[in-house]
Amino acid sequence: MEIVSTVSDARKIIKEWKKKGLKTGLVPTMGYLHEGHLSLIKKAVSENDRVVVSIFVNPTQFGPGEDYETYPRDINKDSALCESAGADLIFHPEASEMYPDGSCTYVNMTGLTDALCGRSRPTHFQGVCTVVSKLFNIITPDNAYFGMKDAQQLAVIKRMVSDLNFDINIVGCPIIRESDGLAKSSRNTYLNAEERKAALILQKSIFFGESLVKKGERDAAFVINSMKEIIESEPLAKIDYVEIVDMNTMKNVSVIQGEILCAIAVYIGKTRLIDNFILNIC
Ligand code: PAF
Repeated sequence: MEIVSTVSDARKIIKEWKKKGLKTGLVPTMGYLHEGHLSLIKKAVSENDRVVVSIFVNPTQFGPGEDYETYPRDINKDSALCESAGADLIFHPEASEMYPDGSCTYVNMTGLTDALCGRSRPTHFQGVCTVVSKLFNIITPDNAYFGMKDAQQLAVIKRMVSDLNFDINIVGCPIIRESDGLAKSSRNTYLNAEERKAALILQKSIFFGESLVKKGERDAAFVINSMKEIIESEPLAKIDYVEIVDMNTMKNVSVIQGEILCAIAVYIGKTRLIDNFILNIC
């Protein structure tokens, strides 16, 4: 496995792979890898001849006062994990390599990015779309892998790929959870012992909401309010949002039918965590 930090070095390697007709998978990450990321890398390894993992804490997707500076980083541990999962190349650029002085072009989306996390973090998806477009242009993968914990991100990227005619297949991979149910996230490391216990309220409300819908409840407001009640029973939890939206448009639904995303964002202390369930109701 090789590690490169410049666009030109990454391109040299990819060019050789392309000459040999090798199929390439890309797993974009911000590092501090956990089993969720490893599941993406392993899937990519099983479906491609070569796999690139990008490790880049992307400044443009963090808003003012968010955790860009403190976001956890450990490239040595990440490299070992990528190698053991079977990756061939890590692309680990500096911010100045991705955004040289004078950079002023951004990829902006409307509609899908106005809801959920896009409403709470107004510049977030512009940063995500910009960096993912750049990674797509640098690595030119056949397949790119994203986790479904960030379900809105996955929907946004699929839309961007279609709108901007990227010739890349986007693969969504299921949420990986800790043994007690908490969705794996690099940000879980921010939680102290008391907060870690309190964070279980996210999956408790997700599992409850999902079971209501599976049992036949179709009133979105009823499901949302029942989930909110559960979260509000935890003193350390503060709701950012609990919403049920159409999976394709990210618009709120009042009646649950078709492919829906129920997504939540909750602060546990200062840490903002997200979780969701997706169901297709015929
Ligand atoms: O999901 C993430 O870790 C990031 O948003 C991504 C896709 C790597 C872009 O920086």
